[in-house]
Amino acid sequence: MRILFPLILAVLMPFARAATAPAEPYVAEARRQAPSFTPSAERGGAFFRRAFAVTEKMPACASCHTENPLAVGRHVVTGKDIRPLAPAANGERLADAAKVEKWFGRNCKEVVGRPCSAAEKADFVQFLVEVR
Ligand code: HEC
Repeated sequence: MRILFPLILAVLMPFARAATAPAEPYVAEARRQAPSFTPSAERGGAFFRRAFAVTEKMPACASCHTENPLAVGRHVVTGKDIRPLAPAANGERLADAAKVEKWFGRNCKEVVGRPCSAAEKADFVQFLVEVR
């Protein structure tokens, strides 16, 4: 038993970390602007579904990703399938910080018409992490 417990912990730790880690850099950045900032999955979900209507073709993030981040999306321009955004449905999501940042860059510019703020990114990542 004395050996088993640390062993179980060692096996489970990486999963526990993966569940909280992706939002951390964005949370830290948002707190530099507003020290009391706490990421909100609820705000992140509202952001995901909100119609920014900057362009007719892709008014919202949900235009391509659907309103359900557990579902397979469809690119409004190319018609190609997009695998689910939520880690609960697609284990590759939020694992590569550079990839996440690249797609925030591209998608925020197209949909929101400006770069997303650190707070918006933190909320959105929190939403994806929590959704089941
Ligand atoms: C025009 C279609 C389209 C729209 C609209 C769109 N996305 Fe995406 N998004 C994509 C595609 C394509 C990928 C990358 C393909 C893949 O990894 O399956 C992607 C990938 C991502 C990723 C990478 C996740 C990861 O870990 O792999 C994030 C985060 C993301 N999008 C967020 C957003 C947000 C936030 C919005 C709204 C501001 C948005 N997307 C709007 C098409 C879109």
